[in-house]
Amino acid sequence: MILRDMTEADLETVLRIEREVHVHPWTLGNFSDALRSQYLCKVLELDKQMLGFAVLMLAVDEAELLDIAIAAPFQQRGWGRKLLDEMMALARRQNMMRMVLEVRASNAPAIALYRKAGFTNIGLRRDYYPALNGREDAILMGCEL
Ligand SMILES: CC(C)(COP(=O)(O)OP(=O)(O)OC[C@H]1O[C@@H](n2cnc3c(N)ncnc32)[C@H](O)[C@@H]1OP(=O)(O)O)[C@@H](O)C(=O)NCCC(=O)NCCS
Repeated sequence: MILRDMTEADLETVLRIEREVHVHPWTLGNFSDALRSQYLCKVLELDKQMLGFAVLMLAVDEAELLDIAIAAPFQQRGWGRKLLDEMMALARRQNMMRMVLEVRASNAPAIALYRKAGFTNIGLRRDYYPALNGREDAILMGCEL
């Protein structure tokens, strides 16, 4: 298993996974912007196959996890936790003090993953996300690094 930098050449596969696992996926433009903005964009790979990816934004002493996804066939095998742990270690090495993120209130798998990794609720943004039926809350979570 390796964690490596995401490049433009990965974006076709990244978008395929993103669209497969998210109700409201990021666009090609979102990922291109993330690469250009020099966010930490990483790909988790096993035998040259992309298992998933994550995007982290660093700001002063706080890292914000903007996206994390594991391809559907590889979910629930521990890869999401592995990827999150790697991103937390990466942030720590960049002298970040904490990691924060926003998650849809209905996203039980992701919320369970974050809690297991040590994240707690730090806030709520009501009706933050567009949803299939109207709007849905964002839960803000954070973890000291
Ligand atoms: C969230 C996500 C990255 C988890 O990846 P994963 O590889 O399936 O997760 P893991 O196998 O490492 O599981 C780690 C923990 O997450 C939780 N979890 C994962 N999938 C779950 C599910 N379907 N239901 C409930 N809990 C789940 C469990 O607590 C699990 O620990 P356990 O196996 O000891 O019970 C994956 O479901 C995904 O890509 N979802 C779509 C994208 C997304 O929602 N990203 C987050 C945006 S904020």
